[in-house]
Amino acid sequence: MAVLDQLTSQQAIDLENKYGAHNYHPLPVVLSRGEGVYVWDVEGKKYYDFLSAYSAVNQGHCHPKIVGAMVHQAQTLTLTSRAFYNDMLGKYEKFACEFFGFDKLLPMNTGAEAVETALKICRKWAYEVKGIENKEAEIIVCKNNFHGRTTTIISFSNDPVARKHFGPFTDGFIKIDYDNLNELESALKNNPNVAGFLVEPIQGEAGVYVPSEGYLTKAKALCEKYNVLFIADEVQTGIARTGKILAVDHENVKPDILILGKALSGGAYPVSAVLANDDIMNVIKPGNHGSTFGGNPVAAAVAIAALEVVRDENLAENADNLGKLFRSELNKYIETTNLVSLVRGKGLLNAIVINDDEESETAWNICLALRDNGLLAKPTHGNIIRFAPPLVMNEEQLLDCVSIIVKTLKQFEA
Ligand SMILES: Cc1ncc(COP(=O)(O)O)c(C=O)c1O
Repeated sequence: MAVLDQLTSQQAIDLENKYGAHNYHPLPVVLSRGEGVYVWDVEGKKYYDFLSAYSAVNQGHCHPKIVGAMVHQAQTLTLTSRAFYNDMLGKYEKFACEFFGFDKLLPMNTGAEAVETALKICRKWAYEVKGIENKEAEIIVCKNNFHGRTTTIISFSNDPVARKHFGPFTDGFIKIDYDNLNELESALKNNPNVAGFLVEPIQGEAGVYVPSEGYLTKAKALCEKYNVLFIADEVQTGIARTGKILAVDHENVKPDILILGKALSGGAYPVSAVLANDDIMNVIKPGNHGSTFGGNPVAAAVAIAALEVVRDENLAENADNLGKLFRSELNKYIETTNLVSLVRGKGLLNAIVINDDEESETAWNICLALRDNGLLAKPTHGNIIRFAPPLVMNEEQLLDCVSIIVKTLKQFEA
């Protein structure tokens, strides 16, 4: 078989199974094209994408402005490494710093790398600014977090599947319940070694858990009281997904360290970043940290275009409006059924909880039926299905999706 031969879905799946590591369990659908809110499989069937590559494709598939910027830059200069300057990185850093309101940006590629970077900055700040004794710094994290897959990050995960047989793990993390300010204050109080609090403004992978109103504001205030950095992981919630540019904007909270990834590139290219003000970011000196690809000219061009699309097409406002409509429409159905216990979320980051135990196959089977009915979604945990379409969706398309979802759910009613 020549590499460029058109494959059937089954052939593509067989190839991945035989030659690829089995680190994912994809829904059986093989996609070969995407445009806006739609994707097509290799047999030509069209679907609504209701996952957006885990919220990386907020701007829609193959957005012409983003792809145009990428192609233009790819034909001009792709990589210099940071051994030399390039003429795109500074422009991007200025643009993104002004866009998000920070003094400085540190460019990386993936979300996990950006989280690692934030943890390193926080520890260095702890020793060199806060004055914590070397190797004693601790960072508070939340149970059921998802921050990526590196050895340090899984050290503070409590997902047994993500951790088993990957130890020994990295020390220096304190786990508390999410959305629990008493636990946060207890962890901060009487412990001068705490350097940071790392938190997802909404826990996405855990099943789209939205904290109580005021949680982020009060958590930030506690961090200020104890001179601890508030580190927001907005890799999934950021870039307009929840109806504001950042999810922390719902509570007007300004993180000390902001972590971005995924839709920072519109899904076109791996781009991630850590932003902070000078009093924090200046702890990083030449040689302390880096990445061959981080800050490359293609990434810089793509990220500027991706952010311009979010701003120019009012994607935050659209996500806010459509999210409200989505939840109200689904709630109308939920009132009539025992199959789904609730819908929750903010903007276009939502999930439904299927009234079944976590180990049941119902959510997976619903996703297979949704696929057959022309809409792609995936369970997060057992009985929870996340719904996160591209933010360029319009109202008519959203209502069409709601009717596909309701029609499919009805197939599963007892
Ligand atoms: C909140 C959060 N942080 C970090 C990551 C890791 O990003 P990446 O998969 O690009 O390493 C994810 C990915 O889902 C995420 O949701």
